[in-house]
Amino acid sequence: MPGTCVIGLQWGDEAKGKIVDLLTQQHDIVVRYQGGANAGHTVVVGEDVYKLSLLPSGVLTQGVTCVIAGGVVFNPVKAIEELDELLARNVDDCDNLKLSDRIHVIFPWHFAEDRVFDSNTSDGENIGTTQRGIGPCYRDKVGRSYAIRLGDLYRDTFRKQVQHNTEAKNQVLAAMVAEGQFEPLDADAIYKQYCEYAERLRPYVADTTEYLLSSAEAGKRILFEGAQGALLDVDHGTYPFVTSSNSSGVGVSNGSGVPARYINKVIGIVKAYTTRVGGGPFPVELDNEIGQQIRDQGNEYGTVTKRPRRCGWLDTVAVRYTSRLSGVDSICVMLLDVLSGLPELKICTAYEIDGKRTNIFPSHVDDLRRVKPIYETMPSWQEDLTQAQSLDDLPQAALDYVDRVSQLVGVPVEMVSVGPARSQTIAVGSSPLVTAKS
Ligand code: IMP
Repeated sequence: MPGTCVIGLQWGDEAKGKIVDLLTQQHDIVVRYQGGANAGHTVVVGEDVYKLSLLPSGVLTQGVTCVIAGGVVFNPVKAIEELDELLARNVDDCDNLKLSDRIHVIFPWHFAEDRVFDSNTSDGENIGTTQRGIGPCYRDKVGRSYAIRLGDLYRDTFRKQVQHNTEAKNQVLAAMVAEGQFEPLDADAIYKQYCEYAERLRPYVADTTEYLLSSAEAGKRILFEGAQGALLDVDHGTYPFVTSSNSSGVGVSNGSGVPARYINKVIGIVKAYTTRVGGGPFPVELDNEIGQQIRDQGNEYGTVTKRPRRCGWLDTVAVRYTSRLSGVDSICVMLLDVLSGLPELKICTAYEIDGKRTNIFPSHVDDLRRVKPIYETMPSWQEDLTQAQSLDDLPQAALDYVDRVSQLVGVPVEMVSVGPARSQTIAVGSSPLVTAKS
């Protein structure tokens, strides 16, 4: 059974890229299957830091085939930029990249729509999107009449599609944007530009659904790289403050085209605290000095947008929910080193809503807004963890913290990360640090 998935269990930015990078060496194929250039992966290889937002982190490992599957929304400019940068830095395995001909392509009107619609929500609170055109492109995919897939760029009908869409989008945008603030889009220029992108990308375009199905059937080891986090899942997250794809474990099959029977392991990635970018309720948020200390120590600023991330304590009500939702077998606890030096640590173990205690994550955002987190206080540690090579090098308080997280989430810990480099990872491996008791 060849498939492993890596899923973020919070609101994104859990450092999934690092774990994907480590696991890539044990796989033949790495697949991105949802989201787009809204994701940001930082991978540190020796002295080199790579920041990727669209290409799978697996492109940094030789001999591995990287697939962007049909469930992704695809910004060709970003893909070309990242390809050129990798080639300039002598990452020479980009030949092993495959782009699904089914992926939906992001066009200039999607960026314009993202700006307009994000500041026009009914209750006045912005979703705070990354402005990468993600939501509008997914909307067109589901709406069908104005969607363009990568395979369409190589057909005679592409010119007509661009004309049809540009005319319609110009009308919508003109109606929604304030007078004088809208420059109509030019179909000829867009067509010409996208034909150039299509030529540049031609060698990589493939029917990846067929490729992945036959690879799975042949027993190839496939790693599925989730983007964002499960709390941003469009169906099961903190709607409407979510992204537009299924970013929890439930999205792997629909985005990749690989049925669940080929997936035998799901690894959940959990930051030792919580962060959130953009709008929406965040019960454990620390809008104070401790939150700022975590932000500074964890360098919590967006990889893609550079926005300061909102920081808070670890919320195990939320993580237990997303772990169950994603069918997680084990978790990796990330950025544990960031918690060093705090006066004490808190973990949210339950919620109080309208005077009632619960450990069920609410389905409606209004209920989540009314949540009062119930905390358990744990001793902190002052030691620097970044040089720790094994569990024996961790202070007892840090081990206890990880142990408690595992108990509360209900799954064993597989890895603990104490810094961005590959070497700053403590693999607990097949004999998990703790066996979940709950
Ligand atoms: P969108 O995906 O650009 O539409 O943004 C929707 C919401 O998801 C916003 O709150 C974003 O900040 C959030 N979001 C999207 N991608 C990421 C990510 O990779 N990490 C963290 N938050 C993200």
